[in-house]
Order: sequence, then structure tokens, then C-alpha cells
Amino acid sequence: MQIKEASLKAIIEAAGWINQGKLIAFPTETVYGLGANAFDGQAIARIFEAKGRPTFNPLIVHVPDLETAQELADFDDLAIRIAEKFWPGPLTLILPGKSDNGISELCTAGLNTIALRVPSHPVAQDLLRKAEVPIAAPSANKSGEPSPTAPIHVKDSLGGKTDMILAAGKCTVGLESTVLDLSTEVPVILRSGAFTKEDFAEYIPDLKYVNETTNSPKSPGQTLKHYAPSIPVRLNAIDIKQDEALLAFGSTKFMGLKTGGAAADLPVDQQRNLSESGDLHEAASNLFAYLRELDHAKFSAIAVMNVPKSGIGVAINDRLERAAIASNQ
Ligand code: TXA
Ligand code: MG
Repeated sequence: MQIKEASLKAIIEAAGWINQGKLIAFPTETVYGLGANAFDGQAIARIFEAKGRPTFNPLIVHVPDLETAQELADFDDLAIRIAEKFWPGPLTLILPGKSDNGISELCTAGLNTIALRVPSHPVAQDLLRKAEVPIAAPSANKSGEPSPTAPIHVKDSLGGKTDMILAAGKCTVGLESTVLDLSTEVPVILRSGAFTKEDFAEYIPDLKYVNETTNSPKSPGQTLKHYAPSIPVRLNAIDIKQDEALLAFGSTKFMGLKTGGAAADLPVDQQRNLSESGDLHEAASNLFAYLRELDHAKFSAIAVMNVPKSGIGVAINDRLERAAIASNQ
């Protein structure tokens, strides 16, 4: 396995490797993806093998633009308007797939719908344009670990299971894309992300998150085991124990230790602050990296301060709640 800085030369080489059926980890604005040619069933099989992921979980297919996306799925007027507004960017659309689109059945898990995304990251864009094939890419981590937001996370999680890591620093968004299902009569957000239901309000007035509906979750990404640190996660902490790690948000001035003293005086390796200034976008970009850094057997738990549920805070809380439930099982 090679880690390569994402120069144009490296991207061209990676694009060639995609066409040879190899696996390439590459940066997107959300998280790093583990990419393979979406037409190549064997290459897709290697993704599932590398991640140790149950094969019924369908993958997101990445394309460079709406025009290419329209070769793979049926877009109605609403889908076109939303794609024109939000692509390229951290949005995945679930749409009826075209039956002759050539996408591997394994990639779509045999569904007649397809998950499509046009990423805005320049390296992802270049890779897609040079490869000239749609690239299926789940997050580049082993199943059950938080998504990787920096090249080192990919290396630590997948190591030799990817043929190349195209490295381009930290991901700016830091949370996986919003998944919007437009394939059903009533559209629904299957996974929260940087775009919130408020962002879509002028297109879909009464849009809901799937957990606000009575429908059973359709997106297997809703399964809780996706974000599971090895130690318990305790939410909405207002003070912490001496042996707990602190995942802070905003000022820690009023955070105390149960045994007396200030949380701020804990050793540096025992605390991380998602955003000292209380900026939710900064918090999102730090979330997975800090969960990894605090996930250490020497701590009894990760105590997490309250994060407001507005804007991208909805998605942050969603990931934190999954981490808490999964890690306490
Ligand atoms: O930000 C992202 O979306 C990243 C980057 C790499 O693009 N990718 C990512 O992929 O998070 P993954 O495989 O970890 O998550 C894909 C999500 C899952 O929740 C999956 O169940 C859902 O998309 N999905 C894929 N195809 C679907 C379909 N046809 N219907 C419903 N949900 C689908
Ligand atoms: Mg994932």
C-alpha cells in the first residue's frame, strides 16, 4: 500500500488503478472514501472484504457532475432542481436507477434505486474525471469504526487493504453526506449531514428526518453499530469523573470534576474541545478524529458536553447518539 500526496500525477495513476479494479482511498469534502470502479463487481467485492462490511449495505456511487449522474438514474424535475442547487457538495440522492446503467448489482445491493453523489473536493473531482467511470465509495474505515477524516485514519483502519491512499489533509466537513431519498412518493432524509431539512425547505416544505417518521429505516447506514468507540460514551455531561476523557464543546469554564477541581486541568491527552468558540462546523470537522483520539482503554468513558441541535448540530448529535448507544451495548 502506498500513501501518495494527491498531485495530478498521483491522481492520474490512481485513476488508472481504478480502471484495473484496484481500491483507492481518496479525500472528499465529507470523509475519505474507499473507491472502486462501480461497473466492476469484483472490485466492489474487494471493498466489502476490506471493510468487513455486511454485503447487503449498498454503496454511494460518485460521479463528476449531474450530466453523468443522469446516465445512471432517472431524475424528475425536483431531483434536477435539487441537484443543480446542492451539487457538487455533501449531498447523496437516492433515485430510481436506470435498469441498463451497468452499475454492479453488488454496489446497489440489488435494489432498483441508486445512491448518487457529486463531491466538491478538487481531488475527488479530478479522480472522477480522469477515471471516466463512476466510483463506488463507502467511508474508508473498517465497519464499526468512525469515518476517517484524515489520511492517517485510513492507514490505521485499513492499512494494506487499500492499494493506494491519495492524501490531501483533513476533510473540511468531517461528517458523511446528507442522504436524501427522492425515490419514494414522500421524500425523506435517511441520514443527517451538513445540509439540513431547513436547506431543502423551499424545494420540499414538509421534509422529515427518517427518525421523525413512522417508516422503518430504509438506509442500512441507520444501523447503530456504525459508530462504536471501544469505551462507553456518556452524553450531555455536566461534570466528569477523574478517569473519564472529556469531549468538550465551547467553554469548559463551568465543567468540574466530580471529585473537585476543574475539568480544564485534566491532562491534555484526556480532553479535546470540538470547538472552543462553539462553532458547529468546526465541531463537525473535528468529531471523528477526536472520538478516535479519546477512545483509549485507560479511560472509563468519554464524557461529551451538550452540543446544540441546530443546523449541522443535528448530524453531530445523530453521530454522538449512535456512538453512545453502540458503545454501551
Ligand atoms: O460522505 C459520504 O457520503 C461518504 C463519502 C466517501 O462520499 N460516503 C459514505 O458512504 O458515507 P457509506 O457507504 O459509509 O454510506 C452510504 C449510505 C449508507 O447509509 C447506505 O445505507 C445508504 O448510503 N445508501 C446507499 N444506497 C442506498 C439506497 N439505494 N437506498 C437507501 N440508502 C442507500
Ligand atoms: Mg460509513
